[in-house]
Parts: sequence; structure tokens; C-alpha cells
Amino acid sequence: MAVTIVPFGRTRAGEEVLAGRIENAAGMAVTVLDYGATIQSVCVPDGRGGRVDVALGYDTVAGYEAGDGYLGATIGRVGNRIGGARFSLNGEEYDLAKNDGENHLHGGLRGFDKYVWDMKAVPGGLACSRISPDGEEGYPGTLEVTVTFTLSEDDALAITYEARTDRDTPVNLTNHTYFNLNGGGSVLDHTLRLAAHRFCENGAGCLPTGRMLAVEGTPFDFRRPKPIGRDIGADDPQLRVGGGYDHSFDLDGGPAAVLYSAQSGLEMTVETDLPGMQVYTANFLSPRPGKGGAVMGPREAVCLETQLHPNAMNCWGFPSPVLRAGKTLVTRTCYRFARR
Ligand code: GAL
Repeated sequence: MAVTIVPFGRTRAGEEVLAGRIENAAGMAVTVLDYGATIQSVCVPDGRGGRVDVALGYDTVAGYEAGDGYLGATIGRVGNRIGGARFSLNGEEYDLAKNDGENHLHGGLRGFDKYVWDMKAVPGGLACSRISPDGEEGYPGTLEVTVTFTLSEDDALAITYEARTDRDTPVNLTNHTYFNLNGGGSVLDHTLRLAAHRFCENGAGCLPTGRMLAVEGTPFDFRRPKPIGRDIGADDPQLRVGGGYDHSFDLDGGPAAVLYSAQSGLEMTVETDLPGMQVYTANFLSPRPGKGGAVMGPREAVCLETQLHPNAMNCWGFPSPVLRAGKTLVTRTCYRFARR
């Protein structure tokens, strides 16, 4: 395994941004930026002598700073939405930034995706760390976070999230990579299998209501592999809310997802110890130039964001995201690639 760290650019404020590259003997290579602890590229050998970069992204720091799509980024302190940008904890009310209508999204006005982290090489990969100070974006407690990206010789990219706080606080870390197993173009012909017989019902603004709906007999049934595009245009109230799939699936256990493209022959299996996964078909990704000048847009990728269910602080019955003072949170998600 070869790990190298080289300069990538500078932020508007003049901070240096580094790119770490992990490459295995089989030729799979992953680039991670210290800006946002962001996965900038995932180049997977296609078995025909070429490599497909299966992650959408930008060539410049400016792209990441300007972009609103969280491409490849680590999301925190709390991924996805918190209704009314408010929660109560230990009898106290906390007000957060409203950066998505009335709601709080992906950590607020300046989430973890918009900071330069400390990055260093570790065995098999790269570790990114940052300290989120007490009160950052309205959250209580100083949170120490380390996100470690490792690549195995059999083409599995693992992300381990570790966090520790000095005061009780909600934490829900995820990665927001937009996957396209052909390297670009529509994702609607990719097949997807999800190990989930329920998903979180969304209300207005894609905010979970706290109810779970059965996938059975709905466009949300991916228990057998099905093209993402097969039912995405169905006349279904849940699909209308977010203009496509943008829902947290309640995972049954075993591999959470298998994504496959017949065009490239690449398959990606997602494994996680987390109970939920946001399936997001890039509905809000307004057209913009990405790597190599290629234009990216809606439905050109799918995000499979392993997580605790959104709005869990306000939904009784969802697994709690509260990390207690002095406790360490450790979760792991793995994206495993194969050729079929
Ligand atoms: C997703 C979220 C979408 C949208 C997107 C970023 O995780 O579910 O509703 O906010 O991030 O554009």
C-alpha cells in the first residue's frame, strides 16, 4: 500500500490544502483532501486495463468552497436535518443555524465539510482529525473527531469515525460521496439492492416525521436489485417531497447496499454498523462543472450515506445520536468494489 501526501491548493483565506493518495497493488487509488476530510476521487480498476473514477468531485479547492453539494465530504457534527433547527438535551433547549429553510442541515452554516482538518498517513491509509469547539454552530461540548480512510488489497475502502466529547452532545457523522460506477452520466440505469424493509417517512423539506413506512408494494422496495430509475418517476407522495429518492432506509443487517453498473461491470457493496442509510439521487445537484470540466447534475450519482436517522433528536423511537461526556463513539462503513 502506497500512501503519499501532496499539496492540492489553497482556500480563499490562504490555508494550504493537502491531498492524500492511497494506492493498493491492484491499482485502486483513493484521494482524500484535508479540506472537509473529503473523498476527492475513487479510481477503481475496471478489469480491462482502465480505471473508473466512481466519485464526483472538483479539481480545485475553490470548487469545494463554493459548492453546496457536500461532494465527497465528511458531514458533522450532525448529518442531515434537525427539524426547526432545535433540540432539547438534559432539559436544555439548543438553537442551531437554520441553513435549510426552517431546518438545520449537515452541521449548519459551516459544517465539518468546510474546515481544513489535520491529515496524516497511517498504516493502510490516512487519518483526518479536528476539534469542534464547544458551541460550534450551537452544539454543546468540545468534540474531538478522527476519520480514518483505509484501503485494502482487495479493493475495500473503509471509513472509521471516532469521536469523543466533554459534554453530552448529538453526533451523527457520515460521508457524502456521490457515486457513479461509470464515472459519469445518468445513474438511473445502475441497479441497487438495499437490505431494508422500512424507510423513514419524509414530511415537507425532506424532514423525517418519525414514522417508518414499509417498502413493500412501493417504489422504495429495493430488496431485490432494481434499476434506480425504474420507479423514480412514479406518482408517489414520498418521491414528490424531494424530487426523487432522498430518504433514510432502516437497515435490516448484512450488507446495506449493492450498487452495480452493467456498463462498467463494477459493483460496490456497502457495509456498515450504523442503523440507517440516506439514499439520495442527487436531486438538488444543480448543473456545475466538476473534475476535468465534465458537467455534473441531478440524477448523475447516488449518495449512500450511512447514518443514524435524520431528525433523531426530535423523533421519539429513532436511535439516539447523543454521545455522552467521556464516552468514545466508533463506527465503521466500508465500500467494497468488485468486477462482474
Ligand atoms: C443529502 C440530503 C439532501 C440534500 C443533500 C445536499 O444528504 O438528504 O436533501 O440536502 O444532502 O444537497
